[in-house]
Amino acid sequence: MNNFSLINYLKSKKKLHLKSFFSNLPDYTGIDQEVSDLDLLILEEQGSLFDFKKSTTCQTTPYSDWVSSGCKDMHMLGRNLTESGKVGCIIIAGGQGSRLGHSGPKGTFPISLVKKKSLFQIFSEKIIAAGALCNKELPLAIMTSPLNNEETKIHFEENSYFSLSKSQVDFFNQPTLPFLDFNKKLFQSDKRHLAVGPNGNGSVFEAFQSSGIAKKWNENGIEYLNIILIDNPLADPIDFELIGHLAHSKNDICLKSCKRLSPEENVGIIVQSQDRPVVIEYHEVPDNLTFSEEPCANLSMLALTLSFAKKMSKYNLPLHKVRKKTPYYDPSTKQVVIPESPNAWKFETYLFDILFETKKTAVMVYPREDIFYPLKAHAGKHSPQEVQKALMRKEQKIFEEVTQRSSPETSFELSAQFYYPTKDFKAKWLNKPASSSYLV
Ligand code: UTP
Repeated sequence: MNNFSLINYLKSKKKLHLKSFFSNLPDYTGIDQEVSDLDLLILEEQGSLFDFKKSTTCQTTPYSDWVSSGCKDMHMLGRNLTESGKVGCIIIAGGQGSRLGHSGPKGTFPISLVKKKSLFQIFSEKIIAAGALCNKELPLAIMTSPLNNEETKIHFEENSYFSLSKSQVDFFNQPTLPFLDFNKKLFQSDKRHLAVGPNGNGSVFEAFQSSGIAKKWNENGIEYLNIILIDNPLADPIDFELIGHLAHSKNDICLKSCKRLSPEENVGIIVQSQDRPVVIEYHEVPDNLTFSEEPCANLSMLALTLSFAKKMSKYNLPLHKVRKKTPYYDPSTKQVVIPESPNAWKFETYLFDILFETKKTAVMVYPREDIFYPLKAHAGKHSPQEVQKALMRKEQKIFEEVTQRSSPETSFELSAQFYYPTKDFKAKWLNKPASSSYLV
């Protein structure tokens, strides 16, 4: 597509005013298919976000009607529902993991302390352990993007699905959107491709529905979904208590939360918006906003009903823009450049924006050390080393709960059965002294 055809093309779509978006693409040869595949309505919406300013008047009252975790009855209810085949898990793993700098999908990162199990392996083994406890093969769906779908599937194939049965696991893809540079222009990631990224974890509902998996699960009797993010190895892929509370309270959604550590922590916060709890993402929180007590943090972990997920698949979630460091093709040198700092806007929908669509939301607050320490970057607070320390602290606690003994002094890791122990397993491990045989 040369410049002349581009102009004609935009004219035919009544979008000539978007012409400047294309001015960084001197030669469309090779990428014209990608250019004509662009959804110009969405591109226009992406452009309109350049005028977005942080609000100074948004909701400022922390949501206070949350409940504390630790209710045995809710735990039992959730377990019963899982035993009766009504619960499935979705792992959201479509992100690019650019800050981590790992060469494959983030879920393939070897994170466990001793055996260096990948995030995917950790969660797969927990699904198996929860299934063994409930005498059910529990369904697992994994959201990927076109940028990491193949590598993710290969990771499962090469590892024999970590002993999950193949029929238990489904993969589905989210779409991508083009990046725009800070001058509101499209650019290339290499000589043959436009720079694009996955369109945010909010696309899970639409993508899950259009993949046909939602229909299959519905036909198989699934009523409740547990959703977790791939980058948090402390997450429970099947959270009995959260599911139990969702079912008991007859809400659409139950959010799993803990208190934000401080205003400096990069997490969204849960605030009261008129008659419902909603989330403000951390980079959209007004700078001057302070609270007398830290609000509940949004961890993007939740349980929701399958019927509400279906409803949300038709809902147009708003787009947000985030700064990203992303490789770009420099046509003058014909080289791909890896930038040192953020150089572009990525456009995403967020799954927690569904909160605007329902008044029926519950929030459960858990001890942070039990549920949240995401892997985000190759260095710093959310580096592999720090995540491993958090995993260790959690496993020490679980070890002590199951065995009623002090945990081993040396590095160790637990089998997934410690997370979902059966009666026999508990009896076997009760009072076992610390030993290297805990390495599993
Ligand atoms: P993050 O926003 O932390 O991004 O994703 P990321 O892609 O993992 O890493 P960076 O920002 O490029 O370094 C939080 C969660 O949402 C998922 C990620 O896989 C992760 O589980 N996600 C993010 C998607 O599934 N799709 C997306 O488009 C973005």
